[in-house]
Amino acid sequence: MTAKLRHFIDLWRLDAATIRALLDEAARRKAARAGWSQGRSDPDAPAAGRTLAMIFEKNSTRTRFSFDAAMRQLGGQSIIASAGDMQLGRGEPVEDTARVLSRMVDAVMIRAKRHDDVELFAQAASVPVINGLTDRSHPCQILADIMTIEAHRRAPIAGATLAWVGDGNNVCASLVHVAAKLDFTLKIACPVDYHPDLMDLSRAGEGARVEITHDARAAVEGADCVLTDTWVSMGDVDHDERIQAFEPFQVNEALMRLAHRDAIFLHCLPAHRGEEVTDGVLDGPQSRVLDEAENRIHAQKAVLAWCFGGVI
Ligand code: CP
Ligand code: NVA
Repeated sequence: MTAKLRHFIDLWRLDAATIRALLDEAARRKAARAGWSQGRSDPDAPAAGRTLAMIFEKNSTRTRFSFDAAMRQLGGQSIIASAGDMQLGRGEPVEDTARVLSRMVDAVMIRAKRHDDVELFAQAASVPVINGLTDRSHPCQILADIMTIEAHRRAPIAGATLAWVGDGNNVCASLVHVAAKLDFTLKIACPVDYHPDLMDLSRAGEGARVEITHDARAAVEGADCVLTDTWVSMGDVDHDERIQAFEPFQVNEALMRLAHRDAIFLHCLPAHRGEEVTDGVLDGPQSRVLDEAENRIHAQKAVLAWCFGGVI
């Protein structure tokens, strides 16, 4: 029974056609409701009669509100809980939680400290499970990012060059996972000790054009999009070492000038102004971070509709 469930845990597990269909569905739904109030439902309401449970082991603003808004726009409902308020936070096994919630809701989104817990949850669940960020990946974020890049290009991302500057972290890993599937070049500039995980690099896919450098300028030169993220992610404990190691990897105006003149800047947010990005870039004309944040709703609506058996 569980084999047929549409879990959304990592982008490397999905084929290129499914990822393409999710991106197209997100863009289609966004365009169809231009100018509408946020709370108005899409006419087809593919989540009507369905409830999404959301579990947060870590803080969240965008993921929490965008999933809730997404479910409302799809005609469904959501229930949100912090893991610390659940028995999960007192040690109830992940698998037992999954079995119980599967009797109460139609899908579960989890933001977890440990990626393995999301995998365990999905194995025990009998409803679709969505990864809302783990220590290893953030696939929902990358769908929204690709959507933002494609909207700017007015074309698919194939053939574009992206520069990731900073930590080879969870968000970077999900970007790596789609490099070959979506046919873009990804140049990652990171400190020596903060590379993407080798396992994730191996999941970039056959023929992936993923390059790693320790020189931010080399990565950004001519890029169509420059992306970064916090130097210290939730759960990281080596704060001082990180701040020191990442200092040459700040995205500032001088670095952005090396990118293509039509390049855009993306950041999943929350940003640490004056650390990984300057105010001038974050608030500047090339920044698309608010479109990117909004696109979380549209991308996740596509994911939810897919989990419920639609889209493709
Ligand atoms: N980008 C993102 O996932 O933001 P939140 O941590 O606020 O959900
Ligand atoms: N890399 C960051 C992303 C936050 C949305 C973190 O995991 O804290």
